[in-house]
Amino acid sequence: MLEEGQLALSKLLGDPPLSVPPQGLAPRGLEPPEKGVPFGFEVLERPLVWFPGVERLYEQAKVGQWNATFDVPWEKGKGVPEALERALCQILTWMIHQEFAAWYLPAKFLPRIHPNYLEPVLFLSTQIVDEARHVEAFVKRVFLNGIGFVGAYPQTESSLLGLLHQEDFDKASFLLHVLGEGTFLDLFGFLKKWAPDEASRCLFSHAMEDESRHVAYGIGRLRARLAADPACGERFVEALEERMAFAQEVSGLPTEIQQALAILAGGGEKGVALGKGMDRTFQFQAQLQASRIARLTSAGLPQPLAERINQLHVQASGNAM
Ligand SMILES: [Fe+2]
Ligand SMILES: [Fe+2]
Repeated sequence: MLEEGQLALSKLLGDPPLSVPPQGLAPRGLEPPEKGVPFGFEVLERPLVWFPGVERLYEQAKVGQWNATFDVPWEKGKGVPEALERALCQILTWMIHQEFAAWYLPAKFLPRIHPNYLEPVLFLSTQIVDEARHVEAFVKRVFLNGIGFVGAYPQTESSLLGLLHQEDFDKASFLLHVLGEGTFLDLFGFLKKWAPDEASRCLFSHAMEDESRHVAYGIGRLRARLAADPACGERFVEALEERMAFAQEVSGLPTEIQQALAILAGGGEKGVALGKGMDRTFQFQAQLQASRIARLTSAGLPQPLAERINQLHVQASGNAM
């Protein structure tokens, strides 16, 4: 896993136990006292949170940290034509809502995970910093050329409320790390290709690397979860159905965001350029669904269940988080 000579926690502490009692704050390696204090930890089983590659993801996260002030060539983000700048600011405004959800959700669950599962707690701490940095960087880009935030997204907000109200880590991680961030990983790829300036392309490239770790956590966890309980896939259908109670007629990407993506992908807001951009955006949305299904089956979900989850996700989430 880690290279020879590197000091891995797993070498010092071994794998965590399959399950732990809810009491006490004892870290792995310390025998819990007979009568532990009731901290109320809720994530008490290994396959819910830990898998063998999680320490490596934590190591990658530490090496992959970047700085939104110094590591983006902001000067190269100036002089973008107004229509493209406005479209980019609109997409970023919509994305910032979702970055906040991806930031606050792991923060909410962190104190519910038993300290015995140290490596995932460390990894999720890096995700919190990553998402915070995404918000910082996107806000900086939105205001770089004086446009600022564009639009309001009440339907996306109600869908994100459904995500943030999830109280079960197993379901929340599936919704966020596998479905939501899976979509964002693809979206960053699309934006890295079609963003109108080098600062934005660099920004999306950095964000994409962070996102690929978050998705790898979700897939690794899901794989371990399915190996321990092959019938648990139905729980995730349930999670999506619960979330739909919050979604107000959300289905697919919001129209104004599709339009803004088309303007970027075609390089203009009119005529042939817009037509070309609309074709590219339409193809991208089809790819989003195909890659979501591929991700789910690669983790071990049967194809029909993966397709059902994809359909429910599109209805419940506006195709994003
Ligand atoms: Fe993010
Ligand atoms: Fe993320």
